Amino acid sequence: MKHLLITIIMGCAGWMLPLAAQELPVYLDDTQALEARVDDALSRLTTEEKVALLHAQSKFSSAGVARLGIPEVWMTDGPHGIRPEVLWDEWSQAEWTNDSCIAFPALTALAATWNVEMGRKYGVAIGEEARYRNKTVLLGPGVNIYRTPLNGRNFEYMGEDPFLASKMVVPYIQGVQSNGVAACVKHFAVNNQETDRGSVDVQVDERTLREIYLPAFKAAVQEGKAWAIMGAYNKFRGEHCCHNDYLLNQILREEWGFDGVVVSDWGGVHDTREAIYKGLDMEFGSWTDGLSWGASNAYDNYYLAQPYLKLIASGEVGTEELDEKAKNVLRLIFRTEMDRSRPFGSFATEAHGKAAREIAQEGIVLLKNDDHILPIDPAKTKKIAVIGENAIKMMTVGGGSSSLKAKYEISPLDGLRQRLEPDVEVVYARGYVGDVGGSYNNVSTGQDLTDDRSEAEMMAEALAVAKTADYVIFFGGLNKSEHQDSEGADRLSMDLPYNQDALIAELAKVNENFVVVNISGNAVTMPWINQTPAVVQSWYLGSETGTALAAILVGDVNPSGKLPFSYPVKLSDNSAHAVGDYPGTDGVVKYKEGLLVGYRWHDEKNIEPLFSFGHGLSYTTFQYGKAALSSNALSADGQLICSVEVTNTGRRAGSEIVQLYIADKKSSLPRPVKELKGFKKVKLEPGETVTVEFTIDASLLQFYDDQMAQWVAEPGKFDAIIGASATDIKTSASFSLK
Ligand code: BGC
Repeated sequence: MKHLLITIIMGCAGWMLPLAAQELPVYLDDTQALEARVDDALSRLTTEEKVALLHAQSKFSSAGVARLGIPEVWMTDGPHGIRPEVLWDEWSQAEWTNDSCIAFPALTALAATWNVEMGRKYGVAIGEEARYRNKTVLLGPGVNIYRTPLNGRNFEYMGEDPFLASKMVVPYIQGVQSNGVAACVKHFAVNNQETDRGSVDVQVDERTLREIYLPAFKAAVQEGKAWAIMGAYNKFRGEHCCHNDYLLNQILREEWGFDGVVVSDWGGVHDTREAIYKGLDMEFGSWTDGLSWGASNAYDNYYLAQPYLKLIASGEVGTEELDEKAKNVLRLIFRTEMDRSRPFGSFATEAHGKAAREIAQEGIVLLKNDDHILPIDPAKTKKIAVIGENAIKMMTVGGGSSSLKAKYEISPLDGLRQRLEPDVEVVYARGYVGDVGGSYNNVSTGQDLTDDRSEAEMMAEALAVAKTADYVIFFGGLNKSEHQDSEGADRLSMDLPYNQDALIAELAKVNENFVVVNISGNAVTMPWINQTPAVVQSWYLGSETGTALAAILVGDVNPSGKLPFSYPVKLSDNSAHAVGDYPGTDGVVKYKEGLLVGYRWHDEKNIEPLFSFGHGLSYTTFQYGKAALSSNALSADGQLICSVEVTNTGRRAGSEIVQLYIADKKSSLPRPVKELKGFKKVKLEPGETVTVEFTIDASLLQFYDDQMAQWVAEPGKFDAIIGASATDIKTSASFSLK
């Protein structure tokens, strides 16, 4: 027995000794450095095998090298949940029975939490789902800046401010990648509208590019260490973004040191030579439906497939770029599929549902609450009238590539019923009818929402129901149909669709306990705002929509979200529409507003927004003390601390998002009036005071000097401004950079 034991121990030890490892080829030996493994694997590949790594073999996968045990790469949308499986060559769903995911809140909701811990929670949970489904790359997050409220895809992004988006994207990526799944940040770059998205040429000056549109991508690459990035559909300065020398070769690779893969958007590649020389690594989505382009296999005809091999065979192009691209893909595979220590993930679990609910609850924004009509006190309420199509409409389905097949989706109506019945009666009237079907990619919710009644009939029913209730809660806004919050097309107007404005105005007349919950990923006009005492901004909140909203409305959870974008009164108050250009002319869109995006524009032009960037109320109140600086002089390599006391002056616990803006008082180049450079979300018990501290160094004072082609912090005077929003300024202090 003793002898046997010793043999086993020796056997195990022998197995662990380097001797065994030495027998492995370097690329399979995970004690070896990543680059050594990549180089070794590359040296074993034929030209054909290298090329095969660079293009799709199905709608969402690319080949590995079976001969060498190098696995395939599987992609999935992203960014709010793991997309249902589709057929090999088509967009149609494969009708699996085990691919129903947890739908997480849309990224606007995540941004509205202003809580980096929520970013991490989100990333970890969605990464676990991707891993369990055996995906290599999650096609998200999206960090395109909110330039116009008409952009159909704003709901997939993180708002108008580069600093906020940069801070929120990093922990999301780290969370995803902790599962051995690559995050693929998209859409690089300046993809800020859906109109003409495949062809429009974006012209934006260098400084605006650097200060507004690139920082979140840069943070994703340099701080988040994203393993993949997706090129955008549009052109930038005349070149398609999926093969754009300036963006991909010069900025992404050379300046930022990106060592991951550049993935094309689906169908975003247009030319073999451009793809070879201008920075693309992996081509996806070029004409596959029905295999119409290929004699036997459409994927052979991809720009980076046979056409590439032919150019190599004829000697017209060399193999230097091929090796670089193949190395980038191999590096991706080693980091993910071939990382034997990566966890196994988990799918559609209760824990993920809980994470989704927490993020949703933290992201909901209380925009207005006159006379404290919210929260609803169930003990004092007998009957609640719920009105509006969005109280019952499924929102996890539709909207384009982010469409999901959710394991469950609790509607706002069901959420309220679950929370309040039977003590409180909850009655429902639909009030209006939106689009039935008609979404991009033609996915159907499976919900039959047909209703033949006229607008007048629907309104009459809603008003009758509203009159009899203690509270009226209207759930409206946009949805995931075409020309709403959906990929492939922009909104046609900033107004609410489907007669909702008229309905809201009438509802406000019949019941003064009236709450409007706007569900959207974009700002909408609110011509009825003065007649409506309470307004809540809900985003697309995913599986836990109804539970999260009910928790906020009845006060189980104190609202703590703030807007990640400005809410202009009207479309012409938004800079892209005030000075143009949108959607461009003759195939070109010029970002003439330059740096003045969102609150930067409102500040500069003194245009009062309906609701400011950073605005959001609570059921408690906060008082700010005076801002104090650890010193009023900062050296170029030094730091100073800006601190402010914040007290919860109300009667319940709540969280406040304290915002630091910096104003450059004098500069050689014009600067926005102020810019967000810090934020902290703090939770306070009633009566509690905390000191919130921000560290300021010269990097927060920089602007991009396009003449010098570098970031500079000019000596001079600056203000550190503390606000509860971009317009609710509480206190400030001045300092100078020496
Ligand atoms: C979208 C991407 C998406 C891809 C794959 C494209 O149409 O722009 O965001 O990841 O499809 O579904």
